[in-house]
Amino acid sequence: MGKKKIILGFDIGGTGIKAALININDGKLVTEKEKVLTPQPSDTKSVLKIVLQMIKHFKYKGPVGCGFPAIIHHGVAKSAANIDDSWLNLDIQKFFFKETGLPFYVANDADVAGLAEVKFGKAKQKGMVIVLTVGTGIGSGMFLDGKLIPNTEMGHLYYKDSIYEHYVSNSARKRDNLSWEDWAPSFAEYLEHLEKLFSPDLFVIGGGASSRFDRFGTLLKIETPVIPAEFENDAGVLGAAMYAGECYKAKG
Ligand code: BGC
Repeated sequence: MGKKKIILGFDIGGTGIKAALININDGKLVTEKEKVLTPQPSDTKSVLKIVLQMIKHFKYKGPVGCGFPAIIHHGVAKSAANIDDSWLNLDIQKFFFKETGLPFYVANDADVAGLAEVKFGKAKQKGMVIVLTVGTGIGSGMFLDGKLIPNTEMGHLYYKDSIYEHYVSNSARKRDNLSWEDWAPSFAEYLEHLEKLFSPDLFVIGGGASSRFDRFGTLLKIETPVIPAEFENDAGVLGAAMYAGECYKAKG
C-alpha cells in the first residue's frame, strides 16, 4: 500500500516515553518500539535527554511527530496535569526543534492516538467517534466524519470534588486497588456521562486499558458501541508520526 515514508514518532506520557519508526503510508511500525520510564521529575531537561538518546538510537534525520500529555495549542503546552510544570506555556515544537535540529510536530497524545485509529483502525467510519486513552490520565480525541476536533480534554470534566481522570483513570484504579472488573462500573458511568453530552456513534478505548479490554469490555452496559483500540498502546507513536507527515506535507 503506497510508497514507504518513514517518520519517527514519539509518545511522551506521564509514565512512559515510547518511540518507533513508522511507515506512515500503511500505519505499520518498521522498528521495535523503544520504551523508557518518564523521568521524575519530568522536567524539560530530563525529557529532552531521553528524546535525544532515542533520536540517536534510531540514527534518525527528518521530521518528527510527538504526542504530548497536555493541551497543545499551536505547539504550545497549555496544561501540565501529568507532566512537570516546566512545560507549561512552552512552545514545545520550537523547543525540540532548537535542541535537536529536527522539525518537530507536537500535538495532544490522545488526539494523535485517535488519528491512528481513525485512519487505519476500526474507528474509520462516519459520524462522531470518541477515542479515550485510559492510562496515567484520561485523554480524549474527538472525530467527526474522520476529522479531529483537537484538545477536547474529556478526562478533565468536573466530577465529585475533582475531575473524572482522578476517579476512573488506570492510575486511579491502581491507587484504589481495583481489578478491571471492579473498576468497570464507574468507568461505564463516565462513558454514560459522555454519551449524554456528545451523543457519539462509537467509543474507542486506548492507552494501557486497551490490552485489558477483554476483562471489562462486556461489563460496559451502555447504548453506544465501545471497542478497544486496534493498535492498543502503539496508537500514540503511530498517530504522532502520521501527524508529522501531514504537517510536513502541508508546509510543502
Ligand atoms: C491531560 C491530557 C492528556 C491525558 C492523557 C490528561 O491529564 O490533560 O491532555 O491527553 O492526560 O495523557
